[in-house]
Amino acid sequence: MAKTPKSPKKDKNPIVAAAPAASAGAVPAKGGDRVAPESGGRNAPIINIGIDRQDRAAIAEGLSRVLADTYTLYLTTHNFHWNVTGPHFNSLHAMFMAQYTELWGATDVIAERIRALGHYAPGSYAEFSKIATVPDVPLQPPRAMEMVRILVKGHETVSRIAREFIPVAEEAGDDPTADMLTARCTVHDQTAWMLRSLLEE
Ligand SMILES: [Fe+2]
Repeated sequence: MAKTPKSPKKDKNPIVAAAPAASAGAVPAKGGDRVAPESGGRNAPIINIGIDRQDRAAIAEGLSRVLADTYTLYLTTHNFHWNVTGPHFNSLHAMFMAQYTELWGATDVIAERIRALGHYAPGSYAEFSKIATVPDVPLQPPRAMEMVRILVKGHETVSRIAREFIPVAEEAGDDPTADMLTARCTVHDQTAWMLRSLLEE
């Protein structure tokens, strides 16, 4: 007896199932699960800002990765502000404070851009650890110059991820996101240079 073909399963959340629009290119994938579900409904009008729904979903996913890495780098820098030791304590303690303060402010800007695109922003250790590329803070505080080396790598990583994603936002016509990511690259490149300079003899 011939089997009757199964009807395709209806996905509960079409945004989660939707592939990124061709115009938006591929979202850099990490960790598998999508982390920026679409918000809205509850009598609010449908979002209509001139960016396709699928493009907004793809951009929100990319921004979530930048958010997870920025937050992880923030926490690492604050940890090093607390735990740095050695003859350069004063200058590094102060430098790390300026850096973690800047990173903390950036997390808010990135998360709120995700919300403006009609998606929920991830904001938990569970979600961040799934999608972040920047490694978690070492359990044993490293020596001062090793902290600097870790932070150089962290800033370079966030810069690479943000830069990789700028064309995705540009192709979707999302200039505010492209501009914001460009500004983030400027900060990360400059901070990496300043930290790298400390390691040069
Ligand atoms: Fe402090």
